[in-house]
Amino acid sequence: MGLKKGVDVKPASGKLGVLLPGMGAVATTFIAGVQAIKRGLAAPIGSLTQMGTIRLGKRTENRVPAIRDYVSLAGLDDLVFGGWDIFPDNAYQAAVRAGVIDRGVLDQLDSELAAITPMKGVFEQAYVKKLTGTHVKKGTSKMDLAQQLMADIDRFKGENGCDRLVAIWCGSTEVYREPTEVHSTLAKFEEGLTRSADAIAPSQIYAYACIKQGIPYSNGAPNLSVEIPALQELARETGTPIGGKDFKTGQTLMKTILAPGLKARLLGLEGWYSTNILGNRDGEVLDDPDSFKTKEVSKLGVLDHILQPDKYPELYRDFYHVVRINYYPPRGDNKEGWDNIDIRGWLGYPMQIKVNFLCRDSILAAPIVLDLALFMDFAQRAGMYGIQEWLSFYWKSPMTPSGLYPEHDLFIQLMKLKNTLRYTKGDELITHLGAEYYD
Ligand SMILES: NC(=O)c1ccc[n+]([C@@H]2O[C@H](COP(=O)([O-])OP(=O)(O)OC[C@H]3O[C@@H](n4cnc5c(N)ncnc54)[C@H](O)[C@@H]3O)[C@@H](O)[C@H]2O)c1
Repeated sequence: MGLKKGVDVKPASGKLGVLLPGMGAVATTFIAGVQAIKRGLAAPIGSLTQMGTIRLGKRTENRVPAIRDYVSLAGLDDLVFGGWDIFPDNAYQAAVRAGVIDRGVLDQLDSELAAITPMKGVFEQAYVKKLTGTHVKKGTSKMDLAQQLMADIDRFKGENGCDRLVAIWCGSTEVYREPTEVHSTLAKFEEGLTRSADAIAPSQIYAYACIKQGIPYSNGAPNLSVEIPALQELARETGTPIGGKDFKTGQTLMKTILAPGLKARLLGLEGWYSTNILGNRDGEVLDDPDSFKTKEVSKLGVLDHILQPDKYPELYRDFYHVVRINYYPPRGDNKEGWDNIDIRGWLGYPMQIKVNFLCRDSILAAPIVLDLALFMDFAQRAGMYGIQEWLSFYWKSPMTPSGLYPEHDLFIQLMKLKNTLRYTKGDELITHLGAEYYD
């Protein structure tokens, strides 16, 4: 990453454009939420950049500034929103349809939300079988589509007077795919775009268009997108921060809170059964087994990495882990998750934990989108590029450089995030020995 202690961070001056491929429930809950917060209608609960603090120096010094006062982050008033969708609804219509934020609040924001209209999306139904887009670009090749996206970006930047841009994929989950030859190098990928290779997904075309222009790119969905060597090579070439994947919300957030605690107390795990009902469009898309497979793989990896069965075979060898998502329209965005956790204690005696989380998916995801927009922009101004592992805190499946395993423990992730901020300021790092969280 090439960071030095106490780095020069360019100031967050001017407007920051936040580009969102996919303007559905998560994206509009984020946009409408920011507008509501700016008007003083609500508080930015769940956002580290808006509400978090950071301890500096020794505990006795009592220096605990707000994160947003400590490092230079774009202010909410400087954000401008734009994006693409395969349906033409503006942000007001899409937010009403999503049914996450109360209509009374949305109606107070209707003029600013209605002014945000999606640009035509790049779409291929083979990748999201349950949707048939009506607001879709036509092109002579996938490279042509990428160039159309780049032209959209230039136009958006000019029309809105943006100083900088960031992009966060909030589009539907695409079907499960493994990386292939065409994803292995930038040259092969660009050649694949030109011949419209089947293996190049729409989400990868957005990622290419953004990274090519040096726009920090994050993947909020679990499908294979920016995690391929070709796009990582492009990110290095253009000096662009990238990150992913799959916003850490709901059941997996709970898992990464609970599992480190079980492991800390060396309680064994026999099995963890997770099931959900979800009725929004995301749930509908995930009703397709190929899209669900993508999500399942992303959700299943978490426990292995936290519990380290290879290091603790007596406690964690062969635990049974099942994740199910069932589409159930009456609940809309209000997901209900059930977890049954079979654990073992002293002398092997079995115990059970039941978690019943009545969560709101997009309410948990929106502050993540905000924090990622601000931190990815910060990273770029700090000269950081490539995979931003310090933002693993936000991901179900954090990206890592090849050969390294991801960190899933929420508390270690938070410590690494804050230490990275301290590092950019040249402040002393707080380590495990400093015990920020456990005393
Ligand atoms: N809400 C959460 O807690 C959460 C957590 C982790 C990940 N995610 C992921 O975030 C994504 C968005 O979730 P959501 O609840 O907003 O879903 P959603 O269905 O409400 O919104 C997705 C939007 O993307 C659009 N879209 C699909 N393909 C597109 C394309 N190629 N180009 C442009 N737009 C496209 C759809 O038309 C839709 O409007 C999903 O992939 C979901 O799995 C959500």
